[in-house]
Amino acid sequence: MAVPVPVRSMSQRCPACGSAGIVTFCALYGEKHSERLFMAKMRSALFYLRRPAYWAHLQQRAIKPFLPDLDSSAHREKALRWARTRAVPLREALTQMKLIDEPGDGFPALSPQLVQRATRNAKRSGCIMGGAGHIDLIYAAAKLSGATAAIETGVAYGWSSLAFLAAMAEKGGRLVSVDRPYPGAGNEPFVGIAVPGAMRENWHIVREPDRHGLRKAVARFPGGIDIAHYDSDKSYRGRMYAYPILWAALKPGGIFLSDDIQDNMAFADFVDRRRISFTVAAAAGKYVGMAIKPGAREGSPARPAALPARDSGDTSRQNAPARFPAV
Ligand SMILES: C[S@@+](CC[C@H](N)C(=O)[O-])C[C@H]1O[C@@H](n2cnc3c(N)ncnc32)[C@H](O)[C@@H]1O
Repeated sequence: MAVPVPVRSMSQRCPACGSAGIVTFCALYGEKHSERLFMAKMRSALFYLRRPAYWAHLQQRAIKPFLPDLDSSAHREKALRWARTRAVPLREALTQMKLIDEPGDGFPALSPQLVQRATRNAKRSGCIMGGAGHIDLIYAAAKLSGATAAIETGVAYGWSSLAFLAAMAEKGGRLVSVDRPYPGAGNEPFVGIAVPGAMRENWHIVREPDRHGLRKAVARFPGGIDIAHYDSDKSYRGRMYAYPILWAALKPGGIFLSDDIQDNMAFADFVDRRRISFTVAAAAGKYVGMAIKPGAREGSPARPAALPARDSGDTSRQNAPARFPAV
């Protein structure tokens, strides 16, 4: 039986999800790690090479080693400091975003039954993919804003997809997600497994890398989107490619969310260069960047009334940690 190989370096990134920390990947591949990693990379390169539509993605990966490293530990430390010094708890973040009136107000939370079922399904899948986004924040933001059109990047098990679809269910809102193929990993059948079949009607996954898939996702919403969540390629350049596309796709008053902004300075630079006002929400050792596109949200009251406090959970939710460990 394959024995998990110790982490070689925490600066390595998981080839499955792009997130830092290769522990889960090593557990997948076990001994002979380097050899198998090399083979996996070759398979992946071949897969992309055969598909001209994905050459932009491949090109970015190929030239990365020759470009200045904007994801180095120094950049990460700087980004972590930047995020930490600006972070507020979820309730306060929702207040700053004008989604609730006071930090004391309640906010809606994803049903514990849905979370439990999704947890069971993810465990049963037996495969290892990227951890969850901040589902409490996603659910509350989508629900309180009355969103009906959403795009996210990065699906994996589909925790964030579940949060979006559940929040928009009453209004029949649509979610389009982008997630790159997993050549040779055999994960495809399990992508989005957290989302129950009954909730998939208004969901479409573009199974392509961001560099190609994201524009396809945007094209599915000619009238623009109400909310965007970025949780795919965590590199600086990956974010700087996708952020402007998502930002442009947002309607006035639309909500922009980006997970794990402590990874590098992309979110900080993006909001700074464009002079966008922002909020940083802290959760379980990571940080989520949020911003509202200037302008009034069309055709709806500014936002639904905030729920009474008893209807919501507190930020330390009993059932759903801000980021699930990969199971
Ligand atoms: C952290 S996981 C997403 C977790 C998900 N948002 C959730 O809450 O469960 C990151 C995902 O991004 C995908 N990904 C990484 N790089 C990508 C790229 N360049 N284009 C598209 N998807 C990418 C990975 O395949 C992985 O499924």
